[in-house]
Amino acid sequence: MQARMTLAHLKKRIFVNGYGSIGRRIAAFVNRDEEVEVVGIGKNSPRGLDAAIADGFAVYVPESRISEFDSAKISGTIESALDGCDLVIDCTPGGTGYENKKRLYEPRKIKAIYQGGETIHGDAAVSDVLFNSRSNYDLALGGSHIMQGSCNVTGIGRILRPLCEKFGSRITRVDVLLVRRWADIEQDETEMPDTIELSASSHHGEDVRAYMKDNVPVHVRAIKVPTRQMHVHVFDVRFAGATPDPDEIHDVLRPEFGVAILWGAHQTHKIREFAGSQDALADTNMVHIHAEMTSARGDTVQLVYSDDQTGIVIPENHMLLQAMLFFRPYAEALARTQSLFGLEKAKSSLEAHFSCERARL
Ligand SMILES: NC(=O)c1ccc[n+]([C@@H]2O[C@H](COP(=O)([O-])OP(=O)(O)OC[C@H]3O[C@@H](n4cnc5c(N)ncnc54)[C@H](OP(=O)(O)O)[C@@H]3O)[C@@H](O)[C@H]2O)c1
Repeated sequence: MQARMTLAHLKKRIFVNGYGSIGRRIAAFVNRDEEVEVVGIGKNSPRGLDAAIADGFAVYVPESRISEFDSAKISGTIESALDGCDLVIDCTPGGTGYENKKRLYEPRKIKAIYQGGETIHGDAAVSDVLFNSRSNYDLALGGSHIMQGSCNVTGIGRILRPLCEKFGSRITRVDVLLVRRWADIEQDETEMPDTIELSASSHHGEDVRAYMKDNVPVHVRAIKVPTRQMHVHVFDVRFAGATPDPDEIHDVLRPEFGVAILWGAHQTHKIREFAGSQDALADTNMVHIHAEMTSARGDTVQLVYSDDQTGIVIPENHMLLQAMLFFRPYAEALARTQSLFGLEKAKSSLEAHFSCERARL
């Protein structure tokens, strides 16, 4: 009893503001960690209120909108819930995080994690650090306001950082084409028009350069296609001198956290289908290298992977909170995140299901 009271007393109190595609995953994931307590989640509208309560969370709402909610179902206002917290994980739509920082978090001197729809540039910057655990974990130690990169920005770091560590100045330039999904799996009310959207510039290149610094020139272009089944990244990595062969590239990436090397996964929905047989949310929390697509031609290595848009940032948020709240060294934080969420086992199952041997049969 005594031990339990001490543990409860030491738990860090976390509030998850926003309970959509990302917030509900983060709340569920972080809630498994006995070092923290999810005191509640913040909702903005009554839509989906019963589902949030059924998930077991106390629901808090903005003071200004409290009259729209059934008072018997909610636990109070977001403003009051924040007062007793050590950290808020803001999962509200892009741009709202900055408004929340100014209005809610800074006045209360509460630490905050922001998601990839925010920015670290210009007047609406939420932080000067864009977190990518594989690249700049130590910058987050003890931090107060830090932005987690978006799903695409997170995935690029998982691939680019190990390649740059291995091949260094032999890499002269990297071009990435992002093929972005239109909507998330749960957004079944979102219409998907029969079109491909072209955007001249995206935030992704700027965000990646923020944590890669200028070690290697990285250029990112993005198009958006009507699917809910993941993003796909097409990498062209240019080398000075001899290019490594595909096996060497796979050997560099195989041991990496959150990177799976798959054969025969010719359609992204097949990965989701398999993930759905293992995990209620059908998340893999990874990037998946489509191994047959790796090639070395002339001075260029080409590499294609898919990126679990909603799952990939969830373990990253857990790594980030360990750095901000517990000053935990990278290796320890990674080991805790991996074991709490069974990520190594999930990677092994995925690689066994899409193994080279099975693809040949
Ligand atoms: N979806 C992805 O694949 C993905 C991946 C990586 C990063 N991100 C980033 O994560 C953040 C959240 O994205 P999401 O996809 O989870 O968004 P979402 O599904 O639309 O959920 C947003 C949540 O924020 C709440 N909210 C709070 N204030 C709001 C306001 N002023 N207006 C509207 N809603 C408000 C909504 O409340 P109610 O439900 O109560 O209305 C909803 O629960 C964004 O920065 C996004 O860029 C998203």
